[in-house]
Amino acid sequence: MCGIVGYIGHREAYPVVLKGLKRLEYRGYDSAGVAIYDGKNIKLSKTKGKVADLETRVKDEITVDGSLAIGHTRWATHGEPNDVNSHPHYSNSGDLVIIHNGIIENYEPLKQELINRGYKFQSDTDTEVLVNLIEDVKKNENVKLGKAVQIALNQVVGAYAIAVFDKNKPDEIVVARLGSPLVIGIGDEEFFIASDATPFIEYTNNAIYLEDEEMAIVRRGKKVKVRKIKDDSLVDPYVQELQLNLEQIEKGGYDHFMLKEIYEQPRAILDTFRGRMLSNDGIIRMAGVDDNIEKFLNAQRILIVACGTSWHAGLVAEYVFENLTRTPVEVEYASEFRYRNPVITEKDVVIAISQSGETADTLAAIKLAKSKGAFVFGVCNVVGSSISRETNAGAYTHAGPEIGVASTKAFTTQITVLTLIALKLAQKKGTISTSEFHGYLSEMDAIPAKVEKTLESDEHVKAISSIYKDATNFLYLGRGYNFPVALEGALKLKEISYIHAEGYPAAEMKHGPIALIDEQMPVVVIATRKGHYEKVVSNIQEIKSRKGKIIAVVMQGDTTIRKIADYVIEIPETLELLTPLLTTIPLQLLSYYIAVMRNCNVDQPRNLAKSVTVE
Ligand code: G6P
Repeated sequence: MCGIVGYIGHREAYPVVLKGLKRLEYRGYDSAGVAIYDGKNIKLSKTKGKVADLETRVKDEITVDGSLAIGHTRWATHGEPNDVNSHPHYSNSGDLVIIHNGIIENYEPLKQELINRGYKFQSDTDTEVLVNLIEDVKKNENVKLGKAVQIALNQVVGAYAIAVFDKNKPDEIVVARLGSPLVIGIGDEEFFIASDATPFIEYTNNAIYLEDEEMAIVRRGKKVKVRKIKDDSLVDPYVQELQLNLEQIEKGGYDHFMLKEIYEQPRAILDTFRGRMLSNDGIIRMAGVDDNIEKFLNAQRILIVACGTSWHAGLVAEYVFENLTRTPVEVEYASEFRYRNPVITEKDVVIAISQSGETADTLAAIKLAKSKGAFVFGVCNVVGSSISRETNAGAYTHAGPEIGVASTKAFTTQITVLTLIALKLAQKKGTISTSEFHGYLSEMDAIPAKVEKTLESDEHVKAISSIYKDATNFLYLGRGYNFPVALEGALKLKEISYIHAEGYPAAEMKHGPIALIDEQMPVVVIATRKGHYEKVVSNIQEIKSRKGKIIAVVMQGDTTIRKIADYVIEIPETLELLTPLLTTIPLQLLSYYIAVMRNCNVDQPRNLAKSVTVE
């Protein structure tokens, strides 16, 4: 995780880097720092805390003039978040300065060797080891910075995106990547370096995404030179034109990115199926699926790998795929899958789901599946991300940038893409009738408007939130397609309000969680009229008779549950298989308002990061 930013060009570098760091705070926010070169000296300032704390510290500590700067916002791996462990880090001579996103796994033996050679270390970080290793190589081999970085990185095991510069050669920044993202923005006589394109989108749309095991020398007034770290061969860099715009990455009048992203869902879902689903013609078109249709149709099994919220989308997809296509599906946490010697064959299709496309465990699971000969399909949101490039084929979710750490629109658009794929396969396999297929398509068409309608419950959900904001525990129950939604609702609440919450299949409640129920316990029950309705009604009765408080998410016009629940939140009528796209919405709002009322930092919850690029 961690966010890195750099600038070299004709502007004052600090404001560019500072603004960039604010945009990358979703990647980590426990400490931050900058190093600015003013033509003579490096001025460095860093602190525990957020980028706003850095801004205050910089005002007291350094002057900010200079047209070269690098900056970092951290999510601690090695060494607690404190001032000293914050990046950038100097080399012992004070000539080199580095920022790093990733983990150097063999830092301990490297550190010991450097200590034996007289190097001293201020921090507990692996990064300070790396910058001194580069310095050591540079001195011993008598080479320039670029070469020294290359030699040093060939001794390193782990993951990194780095930017490093040398006080004695201040016209260039050397960057490299392995496993952590790094993109170079190409402006007019100026260059930007960042973990993603958001820090520089108002300056340029042209960017080079470094591939794994590549490094580049970004030199003032020169073309960017890209090389392979291992064998030194030159690479012809592909300059991509980005489609991103500034509005997409700003709050647009909302108090938080999370709320903005919740409200973007009607548009995001529409964008996800626009051009892919032609409901009047009864056609679903998806290049990644169409080009590999035989792989999908002949799959003996579909294996879904993902983490966090994306894993929950995978669970919804399990129900959808099995019901529609009759192909067996297994859903795995990527982190478990990769370490348990799983059985994978060439007849498996693996679907990897990831908003960021950078999650380290998911990426490793993909590599493992590929090495066993499986066909791997990616469902990602971030265009050009590592997972989208590592998979054999894929489909983007088109949700637009998701900045709030708690995932919202990524979840519903992932479900949308996966449902389209399942419908397409079901049509091809003949496992659903033509009229069923058309029925699903026309109902899917109506979903964005129904999400919009569901969002009208906002004020009502806010009122319910104010009643339960001080609860210490929550239970979320659902069945069938809405069991994963219950898990997701509980995860949202935990992530941003720090209230303990558990999601459970409603029927399993009597095998354990029922012991927790008393008059203090709010229980959110997803009780749409379609999914095992009577059974869920019985589950609600069981909770009521133990004095639990019921917040029920029901379908419009439901009178039965209204009589027994403490509060009901209505969603519009839809097909059972599509209900997760609606039932999720009030649960997102509930967690959002509770977190706001508890004064929690909604967009940057403690200890979390949006993109987990460490294992
Ligand atoms: C982190 C984020 C979650 C996200 C998970 C998987 O934990 O905080 O919101 O669901 O990573 O991320 P991915 O980008 O692979 O979907």
